[in-house]
Amino acid sequence: IKRITTHVLQAMKGRGEKIAMLTAYDYSMARILDAAGIDILLVGDSASNVMAGHETTLPITLDQMIYHASSVVRAVKRALVVVDLPFGSYQGNSKLALESTIRIMKESGAHAVKLEGGAEIAESIKRILSAGVPVMGHLGLTPQSIYKFGTYTVRAREEEEAKKLIEDALLLEELGCFSIVLEKIPANLTKKVAERLVIPTIGIGGGADADGQVLVTHDLLGITKDFQPRFLRRYLELFNTIQEAVEQYIDDVKSQDFPNEQEQY
Ligand code: KIV
Ligand code: NA
Repeated sequence: IKRITTHVLQAMKGRGEKIAMLTAYDYSMARILDAAGIDILLVGDSASNVMAGHETTLPITLDQMIYHASSVVRAVKRALVVVDLPFGSYQGNSKLALESTIRIMKESGAHAVKLEGGAEIAESIKRILSAGVPVMGHLGLTPQSIYKFGTYTVRAREEEEAKKLIEDALLLEELGCFSIVLEKIPANLTKKVAERLVIPTIGIGGGADADGQVLVTHDLLGITKDFQPRFLRRYLELFNTIQEAVEQYIDDVKSQDFPNEQEQY
């Protein structure tokens, strides 16, 4: 199998082939997603919500991200594995950003890191890139800054914020990022950014013109419940499917249907 690299992703944009990215936090799920042919697996700090049940992405630690990342890396034969630098491990301190990145790369075997923000974190991005680690940017809705914005609504609807986003995207490309996630921004702004940048953009709630798409796997599979933003397409309703299977198992145990003659030694 040919491994996905940042160069492969660039070539995909060059020939207009869309990039498919999903989140993964553990070995078993990552194996399935990699077998299906996903291009990029993101060990997202959304693990804070999805895996640990926190309300925001802020509490997850670098150690916890490394645990998730190492589990994913062990499962993957083809996908590029990108790991989120968690809140507090890079902002405002480029030395800390590099140290956090080096821990992720050495202890998990991942291939790249992702950081939220633009000009504010330029020094951190530069320093990580100078160590030879590929960096993915993340603009628009940046959940680590939720308390600054107050809501998870669509970003950069106003002229001024849209202008700043375009400037940040150009800066990230100039610094040397290999790709940028654009989260929850108007589709026409995504289109502008995707056209102006050479590097691939990956959208989530950013419309059809990004060079690729990313979703949280547990949302796509319907394992998470009561979360239905407009941008989310659910391919399964696994919460219900799993609940029904477990209810059946409980019934079978209680009624002594399980285990039967063939299911014992
Ligand atoms: O943590 C995450 O899942 C993400 C994606 C939504 C882009 O950052
Ligand atoms: Na994230």
